[in-house]
Amino acid sequence: MDHINEITHIESVRLSDDGASVIIIDQTQLPNRTEYLTLSSAKDMWEAIYHLKVRGAPAIGICAGYGIYCLALQIRERNYDGFLRKFRENKNYLNSSRPTAVNLSWALNRMEQVVTGNSDKEITEILELLKEECMKIHQEDISMCRAISEYGLSLLKDGDGILTHCNAGPLATSRYGTGQGPLFLGKERGMNFRVYADETRPLLQGARLTSYELQKAGIDVTLICDNMASIVMKNGWIQACMVGCDRVAANGDVANKIGTSGVAILARYYGIPFYVLGPTSTIDMSCKTGNEIVIELREPEEIKGKFYSEPVALKEVKCYNPAFDVTDHSLITAIITEQGICRPPYTDSLAVLF
Ligand code: MRU
Repeated sequence: MDHINEITHIESVRLSDDGASVIIIDQTQLPNRTEYLTLSSAKDMWEAIYHLKVRGAPAIGICAGYGIYCLALQIRERNYDGFLRKFRENKNYLNSSRPTAVNLSWALNRMEQVVTGNSDKEITEILELLKEECMKIHQEDISMCRAISEYGLSLLKDGDGILTHCNAGPLATSRYGTGQGPLFLGKERGMNFRVYADETRPLLQGARLTSYELQKAGIDVTLICDNMASIVMKNGWIQACMVGCDRVAANGDVANKIGTSGVAILARYYGIPFYVLGPTSTIDMSCKTGNEIVIELREPEEIKGKFYSEPVALKEVKCYNPAFDVTDHSLITAIITEQGICRPPYTDSLAVLF
């Protein structure tokens, strides 16, 4: 396999060979170690999602789909009501692991509909249908990522400089990725991009994951600290910004990794197009605007200590650590989905997709 193929075929989430557990790459160990984890209990799954061992909106959804199926296999109840009650307990528990990426609840709701839509069937049959559904969620994500990458690539020219934020590549999705998908697809077709990857404080998904994926694929990538985005734009090195998304509201406001909205504001100042790429499973039409999106708050430790040999701030110093922010729709040049490129006004162009 060539280098790009190796990266775009990384399976960050899959069902185990015996079909009873979920296998993930532990993304917290990258780029230093490639370790796989087997998740069998609800607690294993909850913790893997909460601690970002599996992360990125689509990958979280795929993991939740496989996870709830594996947990359904463990339910002893053989009468429908008892089965549904236990299924919902697991569903609510997994759903509480992270609030912002809609793909988590989207995948869990899809799996629940298989149970509620087949109440006349034997539990063994329902389990078969659940298995089909979670595999379908994964397969669909593969083709959505491919289509998003094609549409995204149509917006780029050979030699362009691209700024990325966080990680929306193969590890966060399936195969090509979303935000970084056009870069892998373009490279496969012989195009050369110069990518500037924001390190993405505080959890460093850009440094640990995006620069790893791009470098391994032989794409020209330069890692920068988040506060260097302005200078590379001012230098004229950036022709487009491309990011993924965790939840898109009906008006086109986009929740994505903390710092994304700052990049969009800078891009507007410098006249650089700002593109958001994501599957329609990340669009939440029940959310009218970004104000309704719940933003996950995380531990101060991630800012003060996590990646340092000793703390960088006093223990008693307060920290505010939102994991996401909302980019206003007015700053977004286009939202690229597997169904095509949506342009403003997003209330119209997104509604057409549903
Ligand atoms: O907290 P994370 O690492 O799960 O956040 C991920 C992001 O913000 C990604 O940019 C987003 O999920 C898009 S992934 C295709």
